[in-house]
Amino acid sequence: MLVLGIETSCDETAAAIVKDGQEILSNVIYSQVKTHTLYGGVVPELASREHLLKIRPIVDQAFTDAGMTLDEIDGIAATSGPGLIGSLLVGLTYAKALAFSKRKPLAAVNHIEGHIYSVSFDHPNAEFPALALVVSGGHTSLFWVESETGDFRQLRYKLVGKTRDDAAGEAYDKVAKLVGLPYPGGPVIDQLAKSGDPQAIPFSIAKISDRSLDFSFSGIKTAVLRMVKENEHLKQDPPRLNLLAGFQEAVVNMLWSTTSKAISLLRPRSVMLSGGVAANSRLREVFSERTAEAGVKFYYPKPILTTDNAAMIAAAGTAKLMRGETAEIDVNADPNMRLAVRDRNFPDKRWKS
Ligand code: KG4
Ligand code: ZN
Repeated sequence: MLVLGIETSCDETAAAIVKDGQEILSNVIYSQVKTHTLYGGVVPELASREHLLKIRPIVDQAFTDAGMTLDEIDGIAATSGPGLIGSLLVGLTYAKALAFSKRKPLAAVNHIEGHIYSVSFDHPNAEFPALALVVSGGHTSLFWVESETGDFRQLRYKLVGKTRDDAAGEAYDKVAKLVGLPYPGGPVIDQLAKSGDPQAIPFSIAKISDRSLDFSFSGIKTAVLRMVKENEHLKQDPPRLNLLAGFQEAVVNMLWSTTSKAISLLRPRSVMLSGGVAANSRLREVFSERTAEAGVKFYYPKPILTTDNAAMIAAAGTAKLMRGETAEIDVNADPNMRLAVRDRNFPDKRWKS
């Protein structure tokens, strides 16, 4: 089955063609970062305008790269939420128009589910049940993922925990701004932190409660803000390198702390890491070591698939289309779409959300 994927939920205009949910024939990503970096973050109005300009050439490029035409594909998958409403509408409407005019089935894909499917390309035989940690600029959520079929064809999700305030990527972006680094902050901090000493300026990790599986990153952001206000020299290297290394260590430890509690409680067979922050080298290193110690498998996508892309949307969409879950032509974008809602009795009544 050949599927065209379209992703425009935030500031990447992306299109991809994927065969059988597995083989990436093309994967085109246009990043608007140059537009938004001037403002230190994504400006929604500018994002939707730029998607409008780029959607057609990017989809055309995906067909050119794959050496095929629209007539040859079997279905279309587009992100319908969550994300910025103006941005989502551009990709979804374009997908609807193509599906309608060419009579192709359409799948409306949840962006978060797309991130989870980004793992499926390199790990098609991943073991379930899994704990999936999705860490991006907009989300930090931990899901319990069960498979009906033992593979990626039919997954079911339960929410284990999520951030109570900022997303992990958002914390990276805000801290970068505080110390004079460009947007997006994640990749820059990842690089600079390698030259710092994480123990030189230790941060305590936010502890919500021993019985919570949630995350919180606003405390550490405020701690950085206070420190740089009181010590201007922390905005300059080399002291800045230690600050960034300490910040990163705290974020990674927070992510691991909740994940490890969930591992002990739920005993999954694997942990799947995805989303923009999954590209972080320290996060991958710490999770690789500690999941091995905990005796669970650990999977993450290659860097080109961690950032927002349409191959992951095509993969999740292929699973939907194969199950016959097609969207109607009047399907709407939902900026607050959920993948799973909180169940008070899950994982256990003793665990508070
Ligand atoms: O998944 P993504 O491309 O977009 C959203 O769905 O939000 O994630 C973007 C986020 C940004 O906050 C960016 O700073 C962060 O991912 N990021 C990183 C790294 N690369 C990107 N954070 C930490 N380390 C990285 N290497
Ligand atoms: Zn994303």
